[in-house]
Amino acid sequence: MVFALHSTSMTSRTIHFLRRGQATALHDIPPDRTLLEVLREDLHCSGTKEGCGEGDCGACTVMLGERVAEPGQAPQLRLRAINSCIRLAHSVDGLAVWTVEDLAHDPHIARAAGHPQHPAQEAMVQCHGSQCGFCTPGFVMSLFGLYENHCQQRQGQALSRTQAQEALSGNLCRCTGYRPILDAAQQMDQLPAATLDRAAILQKLEQLALLQSHSAIDFNYKAPTDLQELLQLRAAHPQAQLVAGCTDVGLWVTKQHRRFAQVLDVTRVAQLRRIDTQGGALHIGAAATLSDAFAALERHYPELHRFAARFAGLPVRNSGTLGGNVANGSPIGDAMPLLIALNAQVVLASVRSERSLPLENLYTGYRQNVMAADELLARISMPLHATQPTASGKDWQLLRAYKVSKRQDDDISAVCLVVRVAVQNGLVSEAAIGAGGVAATPVRATLAEDALRGQPWNAATVQAAAAALQAQFKPISDMRASGAYRRQLLASLMTRFWNESQGQGHIATTLEHITLEMQP
Ligand SMILES: Cc1cc2nc3c(=O)[nH]c(=O)nc-3n(C[C@H](O)[C@H](O)[C@H](O)COP(=O)(O)OP(=O)(O)OC[C@H]3O[C@@H](n4cnc5c(N)ncnc54)[C@H](O)[C@@H]3O)c2cc1C
Ligand code: FES
Ligand code: FES
Repeated sequence: MVFALHSTSMTSRTIHFLRRGQATALHDIPPDRTLLEVLREDLHCSGTKEGCGEGDCGACTVMLGERVAEPGQAPQLRLRAINSCIRLAHSVDGLAVWTVEDLAHDPHIARAAGHPQHPAQEAMVQCHGSQCGFCTPGFVMSLFGLYENHCQQRQGQALSRTQAQEALSGNLCRCTGYRPILDAAQQMDQLPAATLDRAAILQKLEQLALLQSHSAIDFNYKAPTDLQELLQLRAAHPQAQLVAGCTDVGLWVTKQHRRFAQVLDVTRVAQLRRIDTQGGALHIGAAATLSDAFAALERHYPELHRFAARFAGLPVRNSGTLGGNVANGSPIGDAMPLLIALNAQVVLASVRSERSLPLENLYTGYRQNVMAADELLARISMPLHATQPTASGKDWQLLRAYKVSKRQDDDISAVCLVVRVAVQNGLVSEAAIGAGGVAATPVRATLAEDALRGQPWNAATVQAAAAALQAQFKPISDMRASGAYRRQLLASLMTRFWNESQGQGHIATTLEHITLEMQP
C-alpha cells in the first residue's frame, strides 16, 4: 500500500514507514509537520486522538518499532510507546508504526482463535476501563507497549500495581478513574496471548531501509547516520533547527506555532545513542533516550528508580533524550541537578574539534549556553561513585534525588535537589549538590558543598549546609511555587537527606507531604 500525498510544494524527502506489514510512503511532508497530523489528517487514522497537543495527556500515543543492532549482537526490534502530537512525522522514516486501529488488523499480530481483539483491548473491555473513550486509544497503546515489553518477557511473573502505574504514567483519564484501567493492565497477560511476529517485522524493516534516501539532494529534513556528516551539516546549516526526541521542540511547533524550514535530526547517529562504561565512568550519548539513559543510571544507582519514574511520563521518556534535556538547559529540568551531583562532564563536538567541560559550566544564562553555532552535544560522561543504599558504618556514600512538584507523576519540578555525600571516619570527604528551580540555570550548590567538606557529619553541619543553600539561591516566584517556598524547600530537603542518612526514611515521606501542604 503506497500513499502519495502532496500537501505542500516544499522539497522534502519521501518518508517510508512500516504499517500493518506494508511499506507506506508519504511525499512532500513539511519538516515541521507532526506525526499526529499526518496520521489523522493524511492517513485518516482518527482513532489516535489529540487531547492536549503537548505530550501531557497521552491520547495521541502510538507505538514505534525500530531495528536496533548492537555491535556483535543480532538485531532486535525495539518497541516504544510515544506521543505522536509532539513527534515530527519525518522522524519515523524507516520505522514501524502502530496506531490503535492496527491492533486488530496487523497481519503480524497473531491473536488466539475467538479473540479478535488484542489482550490490551479485551482487558479494557472486561475491566470496564473506558467511559467517554477519548483517552482509551492512548491507554490501549501504552498497554500494548507494556504487553510487548514486559508481559511477553516475564514468563508467568505477575505485573505489579506499581509497574502498571509507571507504564501508564503518561496517560490521563478524566472520567473512568484509574482503578479499572490499572486492573486491565494487570489482567492482560491472563487472557489468551497475542503474538507479534518480531522476526517478520525485522526482516521488513531491513527491506524498508533500502528505500530510505541517502541522496545528496538538499532535503529540508536531514537525519544523517554518520557523526562526521552530522557535524558537517551542522556547520553548513547553522540556521537548521537541531532536533532530538522533539519533546521540547514539538511544543514550540504545536503551542508557539513556530515554523522550521530546515530540521537536522541527531537521533540516527549510532555513536550519539551509545551508552557504555569505560575507565570507571559512564558515558551516555546525547541522543540516548531518557528511558535508556535512566536505565543505565539505575543499573549503577538503583536508588534513582523513583526519581527517574517521575521524569515526565513513559511516552515522553521513550522519545526525549538526555542530551535534549541538557542542551535545552531549562532551570527546572531534572537531569541536570542529578548530573551535577554525579560530577558529569559534557562533551561538545564540531567539525573543528571536541571539547569537554563540567556540566554546570555549559550554561551562561536563562536557556543560554556556551555551544558555538557549529557545535552540538555529543555525550555526557560521569565517574561512577560507589554509593550505598543506606548510610551505615563509619564510611559511606549516599545519593538522594528529590523532586518536589504539585503532582507526583508527569509534572515539572518546583524544586529539584540532588545530594551526594561521602563520609570517611565520620568526616565529610566529598559533597556534590545539584539544584534546579532555584536560579536562572541548573546550578551547583557550591556554598553548601563548601560548608560540608571536611566537617563532621552531624546535625550542626547539615544545618550550616541548609543555611548555605538558602544564602546562595534567591529563587523567583512563579506558577509552580513562590520564591519563599522554594527557599524553605532547600533547607527541608537538606534536613531530609540528614534524616535519611540516620535511617529515618519513613520521616522523609511525611516531610514531603508537610512541605507540599505548606505551599501557598
Ligand atoms: C509532557 C512533558 C513532560 C515533561 N516532563 C519533564 C520532567 O519531568 N523533567 C524534565 O526535566 N523535563 C521534562 N520535559 C521536557 C523534555 O521532555 C526534556 O527536556 C527532554 O529531555 C528533551 O529532550 P528531546 O530529545 O526531546 O529534545 P528536543 O526537544 O529534540 O530538543 C530540545 C533542545 O535541545 C537541543 N538539542 C537536542 N539535542 C541536542 C544535541 N545533541 N546537541 C545540541 N543541542 C541539542 C534542540 O536543538 C533544542 O533546542 C517534559 C516534556 C513534556 C512534553
Ligand atoms: S495529545 Fe495529549 S499527549 Fe499528545
Ligand atoms: S474514558 Fe473518558 S477520559 Fe478516560
